Amino acid sequence: MIPTAITLVLAALGATASPVEPRAADGLNTRAVAAGKQYFGSATDNGELTDSAYVAGLSNTADFGQITPGNSMKWDTIEPSRGTFNYANGDVIANLAAKNGQYLRCHTLVWYNQLPSWVTNGGFDNATLISILKNHITNEVTHYKGKCLHWDVVNEALNEDGTYRTNVFYNTIGPAYIPIAFAAAAAADPSAKLYYNDYNIEAAGAKSTGAQNIVKLVKAYGAKIDGVGMQAHLIVGSTGSESVSAWTTNMNAFTALGVDVAITELDIRTNTPATAAAVTQQAKDYATVIQGCKAVARCVGMTIWDYTDKYSWIPSVFSGQGAALPWDENLNKKAAVYDAMMSAWGTGTGTTPTATPTASVPASSTTTTAAPATSSAASGGTVPKWGQCGGIGWTGPTQCVAGTTCTKGNDYYSQCL
Ligand code: G3I
Repeated sequence: MIPTAITLVLAALGATASPVEPRAADGLNTRAVAAGKQYFGSATDNGELTDSAYVAGLSNTADFGQITPGNSMKWDTIEPSRGTFNYANGDVIANLAAKNGQYLRCHTLVWYNQLPSWVTNGGFDNATLISILKNHITNEVTHYKGKCLHWDVVNEALNEDGTYRTNVFYNTIGPAYIPIAFAAAAAADPSAKLYYNDYNIEAAGAKSTGAQNIVKLVKAYGAKIDGVGMQAHLIVGSTGSESVSAWTTNMNAFTALGVDVAITELDIRTNTPATAAAVTQQAKDYATVIQGCKAVARCVGMTIWDYTDKYSWIPSVFSGQGAALPWDENLNKKAAVYDAMMSAWGTGTGTTPTATPTASVPASSTTTTAAPATSSAASGGTVPKWGQCGGIGWTGPTQCVAGTTCTKGNDYYSQCL
């Protein structure tokens, strides 16, 4: 047997080697867990998985206890043509998570982007698009049933001023497409935590308020929503929410509604090449985000949008910017950034959560899903508050419950408000 360095040292000390209990290596995930969170994780993508050094880093559960597929569970990949489902790439990521013992955040079911043209340009009427939406969600969520800790059910449904973003679902179905999506996801996998996910909702403001209204909307329909994902695609030194208290105040506005929050796509970009000053500031910014999450018991976890600049989406979208992640293009840790993140998580002696992050949400948010009255199959009689009462193609009831009025949202959607 070839002596190891340890046995040689022990021999020199006159001691004998004895089995030592394995200890979890120190890393971002182990520290996040020690701080009371469920995970610290990273997004990844299929094309990167041929890079064995990259995969080794991603699979290091000391740093990453969770992964998110960056692209392969989106509609254009999963259902590229109507009724044809392709799970090959998504399964690769799900299997990697299972093999590594990592949580899987599943991303995303309903998004205006990466949506195939058969959906956007199909010219479907209200009832048909609802049925397409439900079918897509039911099929995909059923396929991954039991594997997704979280589902990003609806992604980026808001404009910057907090109003609904127009997209084929909104234009055809109205805002009801959101609770309809949550209800369908809950029916297909009752144990997955269901999230609304968006960017620029990390600080208080109109868009954050809009996201809070989405939580209320889903609940008002009697559908289940468990959490809100704050993407956190930030800019060095100007995150708009530099202080820990700004983060916690905003997060608490969500948790007060009975939902969890998670940081779902964190990266902090700068001009490239990054200056030393920018890296110093970036380290502080990452630490601030961690401290904010750490201070809020229902901030359940944090995900960076890939872990290395080698595979970051930033340079291809923001010309001249990048260097947004804690690992550089050569897969080396940026010591200042990584160390600041480790320090921010602490060693488990920091803030003690007042409740476990996995605690079940209040009863009001776990009501079983009653299908909102939004399709032409809706029964006659009066329409409840928030329900659809009119619009092109609408053949359901039009009489609003007392105290509400049928209010036009757009040509395709009127709602009892
Ligand atoms: O797969 C094709 C490939 O066949 C083709 O050769 C290549 C040529 O450009 O494109 C490849 O598709 C690209 C895809 O990523 C997979 O790599 C698309 O062009 C590219 O637009 C797409 O970008 C993704 C982007 O979402 C699309 O909006 C990023 O990787 C992905 O990280 C990013 O993720 C989003 C979240 O889902 C939601 N929040 C914002 C975040 C960043 O934009």
